[in-house]
Amino acid sequence: MKLYKGRIPTDPSPLMDAINRSLPFDIRLLPYDVATNKAWAGELCRLGIFSQAEHTAVLERLDEITAAYEAGDFQPVPDDEDVHTLVERLLTEKLGPAGARIHTGRSRNDQVVCDLRLYTRDALDELIDAVRQLLRVLRDRAEEHAETLLAGTTHLQPALPITLGQFLLSLAFALVRDMERLLDARKRVNLCPLGSGAMAGSGFPVDRAALAEALQFEGVLENSIDAVADRDFCQEAAAACAILADHLSRYAEQFIIWANPAFGYMRFADEWSTGSSMMPQKRNPDAMELVRGKAARAQGAVTTLLSLTKGVPLTYAKDFQEDKEPLFDTLDNLTLSVRVMKEAAASAVFFPEKLAAMLSDDMLATDLADHLARAGVPFREAHERVGALVSDLEAEKRTLLQVEDSELSARFPELGPNPPKLDFAASVAQRAVRGGTAPSSVREQIRRLDEVLPKS
Ligand code: ARG
Repeated sequence: MKLYKGRIPTDPSPLMDAINRSLPFDIRLLPYDVATNKAWAGELCRLGIFSQAEHTAVLERLDEITAAYEAGDFQPVPDDEDVHTLVERLLTEKLGPAGARIHTGRSRNDQVVCDLRLYTRDALDELIDAVRQLLRVLRDRAEEHAETLLAGTTHLQPALPITLGQFLLSLAFALVRDMERLLDARKRVNLCPLGSGAMAGSGFPVDRAALAEALQFEGVLENSIDAVADRDFCQEAAAACAILADHLSRYAEQFIIWANPAFGYMRFADEWSTGSSMMPQKRNPDAMELVRGKAARAQGAVTTLLSLTKGVPLTYAKDFQEDKEPLFDTLDNLTLSVRVMKEAAASAVFFPEKLAAMLSDDMLATDLADHLARAGVPFREAHERVGALVSDLEAEKRTLLQVEDSELSARFPELGPNPPKLDFAASVAQRAVRGGTAPSSVREQIRRLDEVLPKS
């Protein structure tokens, strides 16, 4: 099927064809193109462009096309420029004039953006579902490790004792925001452009609200130029994906460090570890490295999608054909990354003794300063005096927990003759503020998480 043979009778140069053809990557829109065609056919029938019999035949043929696509048994021909022309050809070859009438009053400009919105809506739903499942795993693992102690860090230097539950929930709450961002993006994806025509609105009095309803859109895009010319819905979905990918990449990196034998905090299950072709002893965290790597691609996709529309004169321009690959890539890879993260997190083994072994006594220095502050010493002064103690102890090759009570009382008379005991469990228990690392706070966070997590 030649689309514009009336105007341009010559065949395109093979190179023109190579740069122009989107079928190799937009074929995955076929089920959505079929849905768009069905909705459109309904309006054409209502307007009397199709007879009832033609309408029925078109719907049947569209189902056959979907079935053939799903079975993988149809052959695109070289003239199938994109998925829209492919479907139109398959309709027309079988139905003749009825097929040739399907493009009445519409343009590929409103058609492609309709297909892409339907696709993105489904892909976001899949991704959101994957995020929910990961959230459930993190929730359960956090509950399991509400009391497991480890060294919390800032600047990757030992900072304060924390609980592993608190750490795992930090990802969970970031993912809750990611989920909200994806759901919010979905709202603006879920608007119907059909009936906008090439850009000025269809010349036929189609009922745009009915079209939107037939495709389960939440509403219509109110302006035909905006409807065909904007790709902000792709940009927004990709941006939400990139932020999610950024979160995943940081935790992937953290787990990579933790799985290093120098830390030995955790081990990925065999199914989530890889070996080396040369070094027999290796146990590599490739899955996490790939999650980290996918985040780079996700960032690239946002840049590509923003650059695609930047400065492009209104309305549609063929540049926009380039929106699909980065969008598909980012949605595919994010759903994959989230699923991998879920399985890896579910099966990872944490080693509480190793985690505890990395707690150093000087991590209790803040608690000592806090005790002094409670006894009325201005915190800045307390910080200085405890800092001096830590420094002296370092020179003497001793640690905070090796200091006798009497010595502590002598140095800090404000603490009285029985200074409070310093220990790691007490340290975390003290941080029972809302959102804190105390086991009680971790359990409270889990309760709050449960409120935003759907049950199933
Ligand atoms: N394959 C095209 C795309 O992805 C469909 C729209 C073509 N529109 C046009 N005016 N040439 O954008």
